[in-house]
Amino acid sequence: MTSVDRNPFRAGLLEGRTILITGGGTGLGRSMALKCASAGAKIAVVGRREEPLKATVADLEKMGARADFATCDVRDSASVRSAFNKVEEGLGPVNALINNAAGNFLCASEDLSDNAFDAVVKIVLYGTFNCTRELGQRLIERKATGDVLAIVTSYATTGSAFVLPSAAAKAGVLAMMRSLAVEWATYGIRLNAIAPGPFKTEGAFSRLMVGELEKQALKRVPSRRFGDHDELTNLVAYMLSDASPYQTGDCVTIDGAEGIFSGQQFAGFAHLDRTAAKEMMSAVKPKK
Ligand code: HXC
Ligand code: NAP
Repeated sequence: MTSVDRNPFRAGLLEGRTILITGGGTGLGRSMALKCASAGAKIAVVGRREEPLKATVADLEKMGARADFATCDVRDSASVRSAFNKVEEGLGPVNALINNAAGNFLCASEDLSDNAFDAVVKIVLYGTFNCTRELGQRLIERKATGDVLAIVTSYATTGSAFVLPSAAAKAGVLAMMRSLAVEWATYGIRLNAIAPGPFKTEGAFSRLMVGELEKQALKRVPSRRFGDHDELTNLVAYMLSDASPYQTGDCVTIDGAEGIFSGQQFAGFAHLDRTAAKEMMSAVKPKK
């Protein structure tokens, strides 16, 4: 497979976009911030902890980008409103949002406490609603168009054992994006989702890819590798750009075919040495 092009876009692809990225101080959100800034966007990152946000803004400014941050708990609509106010003071009106903040952990569902279920669903589902409604109201009031992207997961459509609050909340987020894609089309607001498979980040892998699980996950990817952050962030930049205005209400899966591998009865053959696989298949072929 060829290596990923880390900078495939013309300069200024995202000029005119001011993008607020929730959870933009770490992991994939941080990578999205760097990619969108390199394509000319102004960037606001929000999250609960100040330190990673400050560090990301410093990196963005080193690149020559306009950037700001606000501490914010997306579960709290007042905190979301203050964060929008703070970053708009510095950067001007926000016209794009990436709902990327999430919480997740492995737990047998019968052992989930009320608070455990709440913690994840409130970050993922309520947090996405709070941020999306905040941007929607601002855009509608200003008679401005804009874009919302939600980062869900490949299991948003299938569900997943042992991460039930996340699976239920991500499915809700997808339904939210699809509902609003219809409802807010009249305002020129488009809403899409990206459903990633595994991409290495400290936040996800320290909580979810424990013990044998990382090796097991790798075996389900036909190319036997996890995604490169640039592969995901190139898709993000494209989906927020003027290259894709007719794309709305969509969910693009980016998982190296991990999901369909898992559902295919004979997918395991793809992992065998091809000569050995062909020998096994010819051994059961009727002789003429
Ligand atoms: C069972 C748990 C738990 C665990 C927390 N809780 N961790 N229960 N198993 N591993 C319970 C607590 O006991 C408590 O319930 C309740 O959840 C709230 O916990 P707090 O620590 O008070 O919550 P909070 O400080 O708000 O933190 C939220 C969090 C935390 C979700 C628990 O993990 C977090 O901040 N995560 C943010 C980053 C993150 O998760 N990144 C991964 C995203 S990856 P009680 O009843 O005791 O009060 C992703 C998809 C990956 O989303 C897909 C990979 C392929
Ligand atoms: P991550 O680094 O842990 O990112 C989660 C971010 O959300 C953190 O920056 C965190 O910052 C922020 N956040 C959590 N709770 C918040 C709250 N209440 N208010 C505001 N911000 C909050 O993990 P990641 O892997 O990059 O995940 C990013 C996104 O990709 C998530 O939506 C995740 O579900 C999705 N995803 C990841 C993978 C993967 O393999 N990595 C696969 C599929 C989908 P604070 O803690 O400072 O608040």
